[in-house]
Amino acid sequence: MTSSPVDPTTTTSWGDLYAHYQEFRGDLRAWFAADPGRAERMTHVAGDLHVDLSKNLATDETLGLLVRLAQEVRLPERIEAMFTGEHINATEDRAVLHTALRRAPGTQPPLVVDGQDVDADVQSELDKLSAFADQVRDGSWTGVTGKPVRTVVNIGIGGSDLGPVMVYEALKPYGRPDLEVRFVSNIDPTDVAQKTADLDPETTLFIVASKTFGTLETLTNARLARAWLWERLIAAGVIEDDPDAKQAAVKAHFVAVSTALDKVADFGIDPANAFGFWDWVGGRYSVDSAIGTSLAIAFGPAVFRDLLAGFRAVDEHFRSAPFEANVPVLMGMLNVWYVNFLGAHTHAVLPYAQQLHRFPAYLQQLTMESNGKSVRWDGSPVTTQTGEVFWGEPGTNGQHAFYQLIHQGTRLIPADFIALATPAYPLTDGTGDGKAVAAGADVHELFLANFFAQTKALAFGKTADEVRAEGTPEEIVPARVFSGNRPTTSIIAPALTPSVLGQLVALYEHITFVQGVVWGIDSFDQWGVELGKKLALEVAPAVSGDDAALAAQDSSTQALIRYYREHRA
Ligand code: F6P
Repeated sequence: MTSSPVDPTTTTSWGDLYAHYQEFRGDLRAWFAADPGRAERMTHVAGDLHVDLSKNLATDETLGLLVRLAQEVRLPERIEAMFTGEHINATEDRAVLHTALRRAPGTQPPLVVDGQDVDADVQSELDKLSAFADQVRDGSWTGVTGKPVRTVVNIGIGGSDLGPVMVYEALKPYGRPDLEVRFVSNIDPTDVAQKTADLDPETTLFIVASKTFGTLETLTNARLARAWLWERLIAAGVIEDDPDAKQAAVKAHFVAVSTALDKVADFGIDPANAFGFWDWVGGRYSVDSAIGTSLAIAFGPAVFRDLLAGFRAVDEHFRSAPFEANVPVLMGMLNVWYVNFLGAHTHAVLPYAQQLHRFPAYLQQLTMESNGKSVRWDGSPVTTQTGEVFWGEPGTNGQHAFYQLIHQGTRLIPADFIALATPAYPLTDGTGDGKAVAAGADVHELFLANFFAQTKALAFGKTADEVRAEGTPEEIVPARVFSGNRPTTSIIAPALTPSVLGQLVALYEHITFVQGVVWGIDSFDQWGVELGKKLALEVAPAVSGDDAALAAQDSSTQALIRYYREHRA
């Protein structure tokens, strides 16, 4: 059994942080003016990630107190407990070992947890999925009519979808034009219908990805996909409409990823074509398990292993770097400072990389399903606010949508800006000199200029005198003043390689963990999604016409269902 959480509010550092907060006046202009070493001192490196914390609303004293708080809530002990497989997922009595998925092969001593040789199992499953990915890629895995696979459709939801989609979009330049992956997640039948509409069933492979293999959306979509496959193959005259032929089609066109291999067999998928993982991998922490099978197919097993190596680099940093230079610890503790002392409710993540356009959505599950809790891991109520809302869009799209509120609104919105020094597509604008818009700027440089300018504007703002000096009429001076002191963290890496992507994901996994430890919550369960799931099954008969079931609903739900029944075309 895991140790009791420390109530952070009872620690001396919390009291000291509160006293510090009461006299705190964020003044980034003054801090930078008085201290030329601030940026260098507050910049840290984790793997290939260069992380500048200096534009945060924090002094050296703030960071020192936050590091002390991390010690007082026994973060070092919790980190070790996670990496060594203690059952820190208390409400499910499970180890939390996503970090074991990316341990280097042959690491000594081997990791044995609850009698399981974790390293051996991880490597053997990785080898199995790599061999399968190679077969699909070299055309030796064929559909029922002998044709190679051209499209993979991953059917999953939550962690069985968001991670793979995010990585697929991010690493597309590593893909092959003749091998596409599509993702179906929503139980809205539109999703399956649109994603399969133009596909050739003979060259389509479905991966049913579900940790539990009991998720309504995924199993429903898998059945829809199976019906589509049979219907289209029969209509094309390439298989007979008989059970054996249909079974052979499922065998050639469906594989599964799950921890529940018995349920996979019940669906009709050959267990030989199923890739497993373990209950100590949370869904939202599973992209680096067999849940990433679609990625190993799309990009090849070597790229998938590079992704894992990136995760590992940040794992090692998190486990070994002193807290004063430990990026996930510092970023997590700054988030605690913003949520619990400065009153932030949300946190923006703004990648200046179109390839990372699904990264904020991925992070929403990672952070909010992990830390959106009101009780601690021992069942007692939390003693502080928890789980801020994470959100974001890629720059520069966000600049023309919601940045106004970040710059001049009344709310404090800490933001992480992420950029890559080298673009995936080094395009020029056709003018020959790349100077069409700004002197000396090629298109990627112009893009990055926005990244640098935004964090600068947010930090330092623009005073009324500066606005006046531009000749602005007095009556609109207030509207054009920027207060500054809007906190940002800048994360830059050389390029969006598989390794760098793995590093970014591991960084946020560990930031999430750090915050959860301070708040005393189990960041690895998700009981909050259960009630809605259960009620959907209870309400379904009422929707389908069962009047007794309808009468059992509250008046609002009854009226809404009646509306549906009357208006359905
Ligand atoms: O939303 C709840 C949840 O359990 C997530 O944690 C998980 O990623 C998702 O559902 C899908 O679950 P499964 O992979 O078991 O289908």
